[in-house]
Amino acid sequence: MTSRQAECQARRDRHVPQGTFHATPGFIREAHGAVMVDVDGRELIDFAGGIGVVNVGHSHPKVVAAIKDQAEKYIHTCFHIAMYEPYVDLAARLNELAPGDFDKMTLLANSGAEAVENAVKIARHATRRPAVIALENAFHGRTLLGMTLTSKVKPYKHGFGPFAPEVYRMPSAYCYRCPFGLKYPSCGTACADYLEEFFVGNVAPDQTAAVIAEPIQGEGGFITPPPDYFAKLQAICKKHGIVLIVDEVQSAMGRAGKLFAIEHWGIAPDLVTTAKSLGGGLPLSAVTGRAELMNEPHVGGLGGTFSGNPIACRAALAVLDILLADGLLARAVELGDKIRARLDALHRKYELVGDVRGKGPMLAMELVRDREKKTPAAEETKKLVKLCYAKGLVLLSCGSFGNVIRTLMPLVITDEQLDRGFQILDSALQEVSAAR
Ligand SMILES: Cc1ncc(COP(=O)(O)O)c(C=O)c1O
Repeated sequence: MTSRQAECQARRDRHVPQGTFHATPGFIREAHGAVMVDVDGRELIDFAGGIGVVNVGHSHPKVVAAIKDQAEKYIHTCFHIAMYEPYVDLAARLNELAPGDFDKMTLLANSGAEAVENAVKIARHATRRPAVIALENAFHGRTLLGMTLTSKVKPYKHGFGPFAPEVYRMPSAYCYRCPFGLKYPSCGTACADYLEEFFVGNVAPDQTAAVIAEPIQGEGGFITPPPDYFAKLQAICKKHGIVLIVDEVQSAMGRAGKLFAIEHWGIAPDLVTTAKSLGGGLPLSAVTGRAELMNEPHVGGLGGTFSGNPIACRAALAVLDILLADGLLARAVELGDKIRARLDALHRKYELVGDVRGKGPMLAMELVRDREKKTPAAEETKKLVKLCYAKGLVLLSCGSFGNVIRTLMPLVITDEQLDRGFQILDSALQEVSAAR
């Protein structure tokens, strides 16, 4: 560590609690596109994108221009005090773009967790039911309800109880480690059908307000359900009058090669949450869904001081333009094919790589000590992330066992930067494999 980095680190340790974790040990001076520059001037290729927040790239010029323009007009009035058009413009845009051929409305908030909280509030109010069913390996945020809905105990929940009531958890569609010991497609997607059985021993359907699921479980390890999973889940929800909330905080805005990842499964959820890349780097989240559900809570029941900040709304409108009008969404599809080919090659080359999965450029490889037993290679994953950082690549792990490497690079990454990143990943995998 250089003296500049050490100085920053010492001040951080003195003034900021340890609970805020760091995937890399470095301090950043600036970031553009898919490259970050640290305080010593070292360039880092970014495969993490601020945890999936900068799909349009760090400091995209159109996002910067929108932020500057709005900041010079007004920064904050509070939507509850004096309304402004960027909020309504963004709501209208999301209503038009979200899946589903029905009337929609959008509520804006600040973070992913806050969007999830609001989606649950809306579902509960509209159904007059208390229970929510979440999935194993789910991540829905760090607030009390978000943390309760989240599956992984350490580090997210350990010591932070008691948790919110009326949250129930059923197995997820983790095909690589099927909780039912079955194989797709002969399983008939039993994990979705299981919801009916779940009602028998866990919670009654007429007490259940919502089922909440990520299209691709993000922090859980980019777990990607089979093609018929969501249609089955939705049919059961519909039968029992349960609201299906799809949490797209991580997977939307082109991350999975579509504006909304759930489009890959061909269904339109009742409510969909977005955040992360929506604001192009500014804190912003949304709940978009069926107008009759969204409009059900009474006046004053929803909102917040900073919710739908006008600068963040303008940034989000720029993000949508970049993705749709400027063709970045099309680039995401192309990028997805390139990353998939690179990961498949690593799968063939290294025993350590047990599985490659995901959609579009939202891809991951799961590392295992042996392919037969699928023993999670958590230590090797940590080593790999560290080694890549030393070589100039920022990589992010995930997974309930901490043994999954995910790709969340800005979609504006150039082919050269992508190549360089994968060369680093390949050489680091070689070293980690050789050291076993
Ligand atoms: C699917 C999902 N939901 C909710 C959240 C929470 O978002 P935030 O950290 O903005 O509260 C995350 C964050 O990673 C997420 O991936």
